Order: sequence, then structure tokens, then C-alpha cells
Amino acid sequence: MPVVAVIGAQWGDEGKGKIVDMLAEKARYVVRFSGGDNAGHTVVNPHGEFKLRLTPSGIFYKNTKAIIGNGVVLNPTVLNKEIDGLKERGVDTSNLLISDRANLIMPYHLVIDGLEEKSLGDKAIGTTLKGIGPAYVDKVARTGVRAGDLLDKKYLHERIALALEAKNQILTKVYGVKALSLDEIYKQYCEYADRWAPYICDTSEVLAKALERNEPVLLEGAQGFLLDPDFGTYPFATSSSPTSSNGCLGSGIAPNKINHIVGVFKAFQTRVGAGPMPTELKDATGDAIREWGQEYGTTTGRARRCGWFDAVAAGLSTRVNGFDSMAVTRMDILDKMPHLKICIGYKVDGKVITNFPSSIATLEKCEPVYEDLPGWETSTSDARKYKDLPPNAKGYIERLEKLIGLPVSLVSVGRHREQTIVRQEIYKR
Ligand code: GDP
Ligand code: IMO
Ligand code: MG
Repeated sequence: MPVVAVIGAQWGDEGKGKIVDMLAEKARYVVRFSGGDNAGHTVVNPHGEFKLRLTPSGIFYKNTKAIIGNGVVLNPTVLNKEIDGLKERGVDTSNLLISDRANLIMPYHLVIDGLEEKSLGDKAIGTTLKGIGPAYVDKVARTGVRAGDLLDKKYLHERIALALEAKNQILTKVYGVKALSLDEIYKQYCEYADRWAPYICDTSEVLAKALERNEPVLLEGAQGFLLDPDFGTYPFATSSSPTSSNGCLGSGIAPNKINHIVGVFKAFQTRVGAGPMPTELKDATGDAIREWGQEYGTTTGRARRCGWFDAVAAGLSTRVNGFDSMAVTRMDILDKMPHLKICIGYKVDGKVITNFPSSIATLEKCEPVYEDLPGWETSTSDARKYKDLPPNAKGYIERLEKLIGLPVSLVSVGRHREQTIVRQEIYKR
């Protein structure tokens, strides 16, 4: 069973970092395939606590190569800091590889992200302001600068000059801000080239060879399905696809090579940034979940909006991603809750629907239809086997299985690697 994909099934921050860190023990390659440093993946392991933005969560295992795939947009300034931080804490980062096809985030992408958000006023997306959207715009507009361009400084200069000429027109004429200097950007990216050149290669080929040898590969999703630009709450979405399908394209692995797709679901729902969220709780219960779960953004520190588990959204996520099983995380955050609810439909214009609407105007009108379940009011954080869970916690998990039509392979009851109940081995080697 060599290729496993771990996919965020909600609005991000489901605990993918924890699940990947745990599964990576059996992998030889861990690949980030989408997004950039808008991600914040928390890993708590014997090396300490880490909040990884770009570096794949497999970096902690000596025998595992950590690949930044072609589908990622890479900010070299962030990578420098992140890798230096890891090294300072004694983590060996020599196992990193960077796809030559990954697009780079350039200084103008950050500036434009900020200016665009500002100009949207109260219609702003609430982006992470990391330049992600503008970098993907350039990728599809074919004006991007790629990691492979760092290997040829003359060509690098050409690419930056071409892009910057147009960007400076926009900066000065549309937004009335200062132009950026070609010489400064070029000099800065030449320094990145000197540092990262040895790590840049055709990672798709590396993975193809690994698969020929039957070596296990783990695809590390970033963001979550409901932020997908096609299927998520568009336009309140991110700019690359967090789906399992993009796991193939963003890493250069063929779709028929994936053996197991794990959808990572929080036991409840959170969202950071603007956009519809039908089960959001703007009351004391929502505040309690936020406080118990310390639901604040890993990357931006923003308070996360909290609510009940949304089985309607989960249905679409499961269908489009083709999940084979679910990992349910943060069960322990609900330990003190006397009663729980799961959303099983939306009431809209007097009718109950069970599909996730594509239009945000419709989603804004949706009132959740809930099913009530009893809480367990017992700590679950020491449970290591499924049978250790209190009956109502098992009841909750089994209800999710029934509603979504998927087995729950992993139940996470804490931040640490070992606080995980494995009900099904994902990697059968
Ligand atoms: P990611 O972006 O999907 O990797 O998730 P984040 O790291 O942004 O946010 C998830 C948070 O939940 C992190 O602080 C994790 O350490 C934490 N976490 C993951 N699983 C569990 C769990 O089962 N219980 C608790 N209490 N925390 C968890
Ligand atoms: P991880 O991998 C949660 C959200 C932003 C915003 C929208 C667009 O940690 O789960 P962007 O900067 O991507 O243009 O912002 O997407 N967003 C995330 N929310 N977790 C993430 O990543 C996210 N990455 C982007 O908050 O609403
Ligand atoms: Mg996160």
C-alpha cells in the first residue's frame, strides 16, 4: 500500500499536521502538494512543538524525504526562517527536496495580496496575506517564477524583469504605491538560489522511482476541502485545490497510484477568515469550544469561528475526495460538553436540503437542522484503544460513520503522537 493521502476535509486546521507526523513514521517520502505558507501545521513530537508552514511534516524522520511538490507556492524567505528554526532545534533538514516546478512567492505577491484585500473592504476574503492568491494568479497567467529558474541566474533575471514590469504598473498606476526594485529582488533571489539550488530537482521523477521500488509515500494536504476554489465556499476560498485529486497533480503522481485517502475531520467545525459557515455558533457554546480548544489560527493568530459538526458539508467533501476512511481529531475538546449536535440538513426557503449548495447566497440563508446526541462528560485524552472511550463518545463516532458512510480509521484525543486510537492500519506494508 505505498501511497496514502491525508486531506483536510473541512475549512482547514483539522489536525492534518498531527496525523501526518504520526503516519510519516512508516513513509519514506512525505509530500506537500498545494498551498504555501498560508498553512500552519502543528506537530507535537519528541523533538518538541512545531508550527510548520511550508516544510512537510515528515521532516522529523531521518529516513523520510520531505518534498515540497510542484503544486506548492514557495516563499523562500519563509523557507529560510523555517529551516533555520528547525536546525536550531536540532532537527536534521538535509532530507528536504524542492520541486523545480514549484512557483515562487515574490515580494510583489505579498504587496498585492494586502492591497487587494484592502480594496475589497467589507467584502475581503480574510486571506492570510501571504501572497498565495497572487502567486497562483501568476502561475496560471504564465508569468510566475519557478524554483527551477533559480538554477539559471540569467533566466531568473529575465523572468523577474518580465513579471515586475507589469506588477510595477499595477502598483504605481492602480494602487498609487511605490514601485519595487528589480535589482533588489534579483539580488535577494540570487541569495536564495545559492542556498536552495542543491535541494531543487524533478521531485516527480524521484517519486516515480520510489514507487517503482514500492516505497511508501504520504501526500500531506494543506487547507481544507471547503476552501477549494471549485467546490468550496467560493469566493471565500483559497487559490489551490486541497483535494485528493490535486494530491496527484501537485506532486506528479498518477491517480491510480493512490491506495488510501484519509479525510481529516475535526469532531466539530471551525473556520478562520470570512465566508459562510452554516453551523457557526455565535454564542456561549461557540466561545466555550474556542476556549477549550484554544481555537486560534496557527499562522495568523486570528480567533477561529467554531460550530457543530456539519455532516452535509462532510458528504460533499467525502464524495469529491473519495475518502476511504476518516480521521476524527480533537475529540477531547468536546469532553466537557453535556449535549452535542450534528447538522444533518439545511433549512432554506422553507425546504430541507441535504446537499451542500454551490452558491454562497444560498449558504448564507441555510439554517442547520440538527440531530441531538448526549455528551460523554469524561476525559478521553488517556484513551489509547477504542474500547477505552466512554460509550457516548463511541456513540458519537459511530453516528458520524453512519451519516457519512465511512469508517473512522483514526481517533485523535490529544496533540501528542501517542494520543491516537488506531482502529485501522492505514499503511499495510
Ligand atoms: P492543521 O493545519 O490541519 O495541521 O491543524 P493546525 O495545526 O492548524 O490546528 C490543529 C490544532 O489541534 C493544533 O494545535 C494541534 O496540535 C491540535 N490537535 C490535533 N489533534 C488534536 C487532538 O486530537 N486533540 C487536541 N486537544 N488537539 C489536537
Ligand atoms: P491549514 O493547512 C485554515 C483560509 C484563509 C482565508 C482563505 C484564503 O493550516 O489547514 P489565502 O491566504 O489562502 O489566500 O486565504 O483561506 N486559509 C486557511 N484556513 N487553515 C489553513 O491552512 C488555511 N489556509 C488558508 O483564512 O479564509
Ligand atoms: Mg493549520
